[in-house]
Amino acid sequence: MINIGLIGFGFIGRIHYSCYSNLSKVKIFSICDEDIERLKNRKDIQGNINIEQNIADFSSIKKTTIPDEIFKDPQIQIVDLCIPTFLHCKYTIKAAESGKHVFCEKPMARNIKEAQKMIDACKSNGTKLMIGHVLRFWMEYLFLKNAIQSVRYGNLISIVFTRLSPTPKWSKNNWFLNSKLGGEAILDLHIHDVDAALWLLGKPKLIFAQGKIKKSIGKGINYVVANYLYENGPACTLEGGWIIEGNFPFTMEFLATFENATILYDSRNKPTLCVYEKDKQPVYPNIPVENAYQKEIEYFLNCIEKNKNVEESTPETSLEALKFVYYEKFSIKKGKTIKIK
Ligand SMILES: NC(=O)c1ccc[n+]([C@@H]2O[C@H](COP(=O)([O-])OP(=O)(O)OC[C@H]3O[C@@H](n4cnc5c(N)ncnc54)[C@H](O)[C@@H]3O)[C@@H](O)[C@H]2O)c1
Repeated sequence: MINIGLIGFGFIGRIHYSCYSNLSKVKIFSICDEDIERLKNRKDIQGNINIEQNIADFSSIKKTTIPDEIFKDPQIQIVDLCIPTFLHCKYTIKAAESGKHVFCEKPMARNIKEAQKMIDACKSNGTKLMIGHVLRFWMEYLFLKNAIQSVRYGNLISIVFTRLSPTPKWSKNNWFLNSKLGGEAILDLHIHDVDAALWLLGKPKLIFAQGKIKKSIGKGINYVVANYLYENGPACTLEGGWIIEGNFPFTMEFLATFENATILYDSRNKPTLCVYEKDKQPVYPNIPVENAYQKEIEYFLNCIEKNKNVEESTPETSLEALKFVYYEKFSIKKGKTIKIK
């Protein structure tokens, strides 16, 4: 039995909680949230993704408002960090120094320096670290990966990744809207697609990005369009932002055109995935309905159980995604195309 200490019992912490609850080989040993109210079985905690939160009776689980109680507990092997981004570095280091393995939500950290410190702390303490870049476990993105690698529709010519969310005004103390705390759509939201582009297509040669600061939201870049230029590769655009208005729904999407087919994934549609092949009727591929959060957690648990290296969504690829967010920011600031070494 692997014992988990879960820190942060807000939106994503509750999703992780339900994932662990579905597994027999792990036990949520302790939950920590600095806010005692959050440790109750509340149904009013908001986020932008509609994933079932199965918060069954958890009266028997240890609860604390003090993170150190999790770090110091010898019975806990894994610390799962679902706290705001500005705490990822500090708490990963504390967990590693206490000999715990760490699963930490994306974005890995606020900046490259923090991310490197997290890697170093886990390496020097011999503990494993994985960052929750969940698209790597998302069925529709895995379908796309297979389509690219198998070349079954020919070569990929163009791809547009889109991620649009209502402004996240729901977070505790509004940290999402504070750019210093990690609250900036270019970092918090858009990094999902940055990581996906690097995972699926590799490093581009050049990037160019445009960003917008909507002052009523905050000082951060809360809308971005980036072009990744690949030599002999597809034309690639990534769009992300928190600026949509009214009741426009949360949207994650990719539109990929190959030599012989176009694939659209749109979270607003049902079914979400459609393949439009040359000279054929549109096809809605029958892909299994799986919870990607559950899959990423199971993958990490398997690495711990079998003492295998984390090879998917590694700390290094997560740091790389962070670097590209900073290349984009630099491009926005300078109004220039950035050459990637
Ligand atoms: N992978 C995804 O799809 C996804 C989705 C949403 C959020 N996230 C990421 O997860 C992290 C948390 O986001 P959220 O939406 O759950 O935020 P949230 O504000 O809903 O929850 C964070 C929780 O952490 C608690 N907390 C804050 N400081 C603490 C401390 N010092 N000690 C203990 N608890 C503390 C808060 O009280 C709150 O309950 C962020 O990094 C965010 O980017 C990832």
